[in-house]
This record gives sequence, C-alpha cells and structure tokens, in this order.
Amino acid sequence: MGENPTDLQPDRSNSSVLKQLTTVIALRCVECASLYPGVGDQPRYRCDCGGVLDVETKILHPMQQEPALQVGFETLTTSESGIKPFAGAHWRQLFEKRASQSLTWPVNVVEQLPDSSGVWRYRELILPIPEQYIVSRPEGNTGLYPVGRENCGNHRAGHRQIGHYAGLDYLFLKHEGENPTGSFKDRGMTVGVTMANLLGARAVSCASTGNTSASLASYAAQLGLPCIVFLPSTNVAGGKLAQSLAYGATTIQVEGDFDDAMRLVEQVCNELGVYLLNSLNPFRIEGQKAIGFELLQQLDWEAPDWLVLPAGNLGNTSAIGKAFRQAYQVGMITHMPRVAAIQASGANPFFRSFMGGFSHREHVKAQTIATAIKIGDPVGYSRARQVIEESNGVVEEVTDEEILAAKTVIDRSGIGCEPASAATLAGVYKLVERGIIKREERVVGILTGNLLKDSQTGIPQVKQDNAITANIKAVKRALTNKISL
Ligand code: F0G
Repeated sequence: MGENPTDLQPDRSNSSVLKQLTTVIALRCVECASLYPGVGDQPRYRCDCGGVLDVETKILHPMQQEPALQVGFETLTTSESGIKPFAGAHWRQLFEKRASQSLTWPVNVVEQLPDSSGVWRYRELILPIPEQYIVSRPEGNTGLYPVGRENCGNHRAGHRQIGHYAGLDYLFLKHEGENPTGSFKDRGMTVGVTMANLLGARAVSCASTGNTSASLASYAAQLGLPCIVFLPSTNVAGGKLAQSLAYGATTIQVEGDFDDAMRLVEQVCNELGVYLLNSLNPFRIEGQKAIGFELLQQLDWEAPDWLVLPAGNLGNTSAIGKAFRQAYQVGMITHMPRVAAIQASGANPFFRSFMGGFSHREHVKAQTIATAIKIGDPVGYSRARQVIEESNGVVEEVTDEEILAAKTVIDRSGIGCEPASAATLAGVYKLVERGIIKREERVVGILTGNLLKDSQTGIPQVKQDNAITANIKAVKRALTNKISL
C-alpha cells in the first residue's frame, strides 16, 4: 500500500497537529481489543484480525480546555473510573453556553461555526482538533418533536396522532432529515471530511444507496476535494443521485446491491489510497454521536427510557449508543437509555443474530422497500451488538407493510420522513404492543432521512393528464368527496 504514488500522504504542515492528535486518540479493535494510533502514516479502517475499529479519546475536562490539545491536564478517559464530582454539570454548562450564543452572519463566520454546529458544539467529546481544520455547513440542530398523547402541545392535533398510533404518552421524534443534505449522514461526514482535510487526502469515497453519497459529495465539494461514490445498480433514489451529481461527485454504478458496493469500495480505498468515508471509518461514528448529545441537551439532560432507530449498516446504533455511554461516564446523565434497533424483516441480519443470543453473526440477501436499510451484511455489527448488550436493548423487525403504515402516520402529521425512517415508528408500535416498551415510558425515536427521498414509495402520486380547467366549477368538482368546506 505504501508504495503506491497516489497513496494518502499526510501534508507535512499538518504533521505537528497529527503528532499531538496521536497523544489523545487511538483506535481499538472491537473484536480483539488491539490498539492502533489514532492517525498513522496510512488510514486504517480495520484491525489486522479484520475487526472494525473504535475511536478512543482522552477527554479533556471542560474547565481545563484552553488550549484544546494541551497535554498533561487532568483528564477523564473512558478507562478511568474516578469521575470528579460536578464534572457532568461543567459539561452541561459548557454546551448550554455554546448553544445559547446566537449566530450573526457574516461576521467572523469561521470562528462561530464550531459553536453553531450541532456536532462541533460537543467537540471535546467528538474530536479534539484545532478549529481551522473543521469542515462544517454547519449541521445538526435538528428538531425534536413532542408527539406523545401527553407531551404534545394542544394546538398540534396532527402531531399527536403519532402518539395515539404508538400508544405512548411521552414520545419525541428527532428529525435528522433536517440536516443540510437531508439525513443524519451530515453529522458523521463533517467529522470524516475534517479528518480527510487534516490528513491531506487527495480524494474521498463511499458506497451508498443515496444519503451517504449526497452528504459526502457536499462536504467534499466544500473542501474542493474529488469525491467518488459507488452506487448499487438498483434501488438508488433518483433525487439523491441528482444531489451527488450536482455537488460534482464522480458516480460509479456497481452491479449488485449495497453490500457488493461496500465490499468494492473498501478494496478501492485500500488499493488506490482514497480516503474511505462509509461508517466503517471510525471518525464518522464520532460525529454521529452528536445526535445523542444533542437530544439529551434538548431534553434538558434527562435521559429518556428508550431510544428507537432504524438499523441498516449499524453505524448510527453504534454512534448513539456510544454517546449515551460517554454522557453517562462523564456524569451528564444519570442513567443509560435502552436502545431499540429496528430492521426491515427482509433485511434483518442483526435481528436474527439478536434472536440467536448473538451467538452467531447472520447475513441475508436483503430485500425491502426501505432502500436505506436494505443491507444484508452490516459492517457495524460488533459495535452495535455491544450497544444493545450494554444498554439492555432490543432488536426488532417490521414488515414493509408496517413501515408504510407508520410512514403514512408520520407524513400526515406534517412531519414526514423517508421509508427507512418510518421503521422507527413501526418498531415503537410493535414494541409497545408487545409490552416491551411500557406506555408510561419516555421514548425518543430517530427519523433518519427526509421525506423527499424515495418519494415514489408510500406517497400518493399525482396522475398525469389530471389538470382541471381554470374555473371555480371545476375546482368544486375536484374537491367533491375530498374536503367539505
Ligand atoms: N436511515 C437512513 C435515512 C439512511 O440513509 C441509512 C443508511 C440508515 C437509516 C441506516 O443507518 O447504516 O447507520 O444503520 N444509509 C446508507 C446510505 C446505506 O448509503 O446512505 P445505519
């Protein structure tokens, strides 16, 4: 790998920062616990044993932050048990202060971006890096909608329909489709592309069914970096493909499904020295942790009983679970929410493994209308398994019909989401019905993507040749049996 002229070569001007970074971050294998430098001569996505890697960070205490990378301060690390009293309060205060600062454009945008980003606001817990390397839109700051029977405002009868459907009094939906490119991927991508920037990558790449590629293409374009996206030949949402092309990405269609494209991109990145930005890249997971931090902050640091989300490649399950673990370890919250990962029944390898007590890792040939979770061999399996086990969580499956029914409820409420996201509500419905989630428990569900993806699925389509004559009589006829005025 090292001999290839196109290999990633860290830009020498960044070398002192890279050196400092190696003192605060490391990569640990989720399978065999082997440890690697956080940033080496070549990017590393897997352990020598084949296992995926997890970022371990020395977390600097917020009262002793200046300068961010100074070594030798009192630190809190995931392996240290001696959490200082009030540590959690200090963290909470820091994040509250940053969130409350209003953004004034265009004065000194560069300085203000990190605090206004829903990812970099939590930077000590994400990636301790000098701010000039950060590539941010900014992202995050997504809505958390109270939609339960009790916690929904009186004037939002539409939203409350979701709580009625789920059978829950305290339900919140966090809409990650409100990120700049329309999905939660932007949270991981801001950190991943920031790493690409720091490492001096010459090109970035991913396999995708749409959201990852649109996000990567956008962040790469912001940095002026070439981007190559590998798309399975079937089931790529047209709008997302258009987004990637518009941002200037080179797209390559691959015969086969997402799992085939994923295997190929890993090989391409290793052999051609291109920086890989699927969730196999552990720095993406660090960014996606911010979903967890942000929702905890929106709930005034009162952790919910459950966190429910759709599960495909299992990056998000790993990330949000890790955020909760860290928030608990530094004392920001007093208990860990249970995590429920929801899979489509035609793409359910993680569910099958869970049902077998995780004694065996299952693979399937995936088939579902929810394109974003149509994944049969998830790369995040081990990290996500750890989250389910340590949070006393569950994995559930839902049929395509159940996904579509839930999607209609979310869409009609005025919130709306893409099919994969609706697996969240379908899963909540099922888990409440089975008595696993109790009706009085506080639940947060993640909507991962925007309604405009897969807009041919589960949405009434406008018929061609259906235009009316432009007069009032024709309007009245068109409204008959639809709306009574
Ligand atoms: N929801 C949406 C909207 C997604 O785009 C994805 C993944 C998932 C859920 C699954 O999340 O992999 O973290 O478990 N989309 C990938 C893509 C496949 O290419 O955009 P996960």
